[in-house]
Amino acid sequence: MSTAATTTTPRLRTTEREDIAGRLLRSSAKASYDPLTTIDWDRPVDLDRYAIPPHRVSLYGTELWDQLTEDQRKELSRQEVASVACVGIWFEAILMQMLIRHAYDLDPTTNHVQYSYTEIGDECRHSVMFARFVTKLGAPYYPLDRVGRALGRFFKTTSNGPLTFSAALFVEELLDQMQREIMVDEDLEQLPRDVARLHVTEEARHMRYAREELIRDWPRRGVLTRAYSRLVLALVALHATERLIHPGCYERVGLDPRQARRAAARNPHWRESKTWFARQAVETFTAAGLMSRPTNRIWRRAGLL
Ligand SMILES: [Fe+2]
Ligand SMILES: [Fe+2]
Repeated sequence: MSTAATTTTPRLRTTEREDIAGRLLRSSAKASYDPLTTIDWDRPVDLDRYAIPPHRVSLYGTELWDQLTEDQRKELSRQEVASVACVGIWFEAILMQMLIRHAYDLDPTTNHVQYSYTEIGDECRHSVMFARFVTKLGAPYYPLDRVGRALGRFFKTTSNGPLTFSAALFVEELLDQMQREIMVDEDLEQLPRDVARLHVTEEARHMRYAREELIRDWPRRGVLTRAYSRLVLALVALHATERLIHPGCYERVGLDPRQARRAAARNPHWRESKTWFARQAVETFTAAGLMSRPTNRIWRRAGLL
């Protein structure tokens, strides 16, 4: 009986993998967008509107928030969404390299590998879109600190299958939660809403691809690989979340960056937002077995649990 199970399951799973990738490829053929022509880049940004809902700004509800004028708060909302876009570009570069490494050893005539290439193409366009978005918001490029850059370099070079797809899922779910709220909020500036809508549409396929691959791959991994992957995933979540808001954002609205950073770190509203951004990812990881008591402490420290 166990022999039958081990001989039929892999074949079934491969078929399922191909079916899903085939569906994702058909969906990509129907609904993929070029942000350079889909988004109106000539429309001026309305400075009277928030770029993200005020309650999602990292300082919302703090004493520093009370000291800011309404104009400064709106400016901070633009800088913070620009900072998140810079982190998005950073992560998309990591993801593209991980997907190339994933496809390197596999058969390119499969739907699975062709979807991987398709996703890389999507991410290329997204990174150009996010870069333009940052400029259009009147924000600078918020570069990553040296430690973050080094950690990213290590991770994108060494990630195994479960880490590639769980890290992808973590960042994509985080942005997805944020952007779904932005795209439907009619009080917000139009540009972030347009960027969010385009990204949400294409990322839905990426998340499906990552989730399916992760759930398929995880049970085949040994105890050590699983323990290592749980730990590294928790560290990825911690380091990525800590870097979402660059301290330079606070400086742009005249705040002391160190003081504002501390205020944000202690802000229960911001913590609640982070937990809310991560909730879908955490749910998937809990169901799949990627969370554990020791690593949950790291997730909690990151404000994600
Ligand atoms: Fe993307
Ligand atoms: Fe993606």
